[in-house]
Order: sequence, then C-alpha cells, then structure tokens
Amino acid sequence: MSDHAQCESHLSGRHLLVALSGGIACYKVASLVSSLVQIGAKVDVLMTDAATQFISPLTFESLTGREVYDCQWDQGDCKTPLHIQLADQADALLIAPCTMNMLAKLAMGITNDPVTLVASAIDRSTTPVLLAPAMNVTMYSQPSTKRNIATLEADGFTILDSTEGWQACKSFGKGRLPEPKTLFEALEYCFA
Ligand SMILES: Cc1cc2nc3c(=O)[nH]c(=O)nc-3n(C[C@H](O)[C@H](O)[C@H](O)COP(=O)(O)O)c2cc1C
Repeated sequence: MSDHAQCESHLSGRHLLVALSGGIACYKVASLVSSLVQIGAKVDVLMTDAATQFISPLTFESLTGREVYDCQWDQGDCKTPLHIQLADQADALLIAPCTMNMLAKLAMGITNDPVTLVASAIDRSTTPVLLAPAMNVTMYSQPSTKRNIATLEADGFTILDSTEGWQACKSFGKGRLPEPKTLFEALEYCFA
C-alpha cells in the first residue's frame, strides 16, 4: 500500500465514502482508508452499529481527521439531511466489508442505518457504488446471497469478487474481503 501513497492517483482530490458493515474483515479497512488519505482523497467513513463492534470509529476519525457517520440521527449543524449531503457530494461509495445482511437490505431497498441510507440516496448513473461482500464460506454460498448479489448487479451496483482462502472462522473457502490494495485499485479503476 505504501507504493500507492507515493504515486499520483486518479483518487487524489476525490471525495470518497468508505462504509463498513459488521464483519470480521473491518480491520483491513483502516489500512485502505489510511492509503486514500495519504494520496490526497477526502474520505468520509460510514459505519453500521454492528461495524462499530469490530473496529472503533475513533480509528477512522484519527485517520481521516473527520467525523464518522455512524448514527443516522446525528446531523451535526447540517441544514440538509446529512445522508443526502454525503450522497450528493460523493464521487464514489465503497461498502467494505459488505455483510450478508447488508446485501439483503440493499437488494430490498431497506434504509434503516447510516450505510443503507446514504447508499439509497446516491444516483448510481453518475456515482459508482462498489460492494465488497465478505463472509463465511457457507454464508457466501447461500442461495439468498447469490440472489441478492445478482439483483444488486442488475440494479447497477459494482460487486467486487470475494477471494478464497483462510477464514477467521477456521474454514477455507470463498468469502474473504479482498486485500486493501485490491480495494484501492477497484476505486481507482472507477476514475481511470
Ligand atoms: C464475531 C462475528 C463475526 C461476524 N462476521 C461476519 C462477516 O464476516 N460477514 C457477515 O456477513 N456477517 C458477519 N457477522 C454477522 C453480522 O455482524 C450480523 O449479521 C450483523 O447483524 C450485520 O449488521 P450490519 O449489516 O448492519 O452491519 C459476524 C458476527 C459476529 C458475532
């Protein structure tokens, strides 16, 4: 990742939203956010309540120097609802890790947490929304997960392929969050 920090990037100067839902892979996203900040992107981090169980918002506030949007009722001093403001100003949204639950909510149009709320307010014809599913191999292979991924793809979301390998639950298989470098490159590709 330090390679990226030294380089010119299509992401420099972009306003990026990085959203976390509650999966064990949340720890990987701190490194991604640090790299994005280092190349000069403006990064706002959004978190579900479950995500805050895995990594503290304080980590991201320290890395970005910006407040984390982890409660839909906290509006700061915004006159426009914060989720609309974030959605309107963003150049891209990445949801990583994207839980099985988050996939289902997005596929159904449920908007009852900061992440789904912002995602629902983004116009995907102009602003890319990338999802990085990450979960246990059995959860990943459930028909509902496959169905939801297919629905979301048809609805214009970009799905980043999960990788195969060792999982925290001591299984081996598909469902791992791609490494931060891959997530970085997927975001860059949106503007290349
Ligand atoms: C220790 C632990 C690890 C978990 N890891 C994952 C995971 O990697 N992927 C996933 O889809 N769900 C995982 N879950 C379940 C989610 O945290 C749970 O479905 C939660 O409701 C997701 O909420 P959210 O989608 O609003 O963040 C895990 C739960 C626990 C207790």
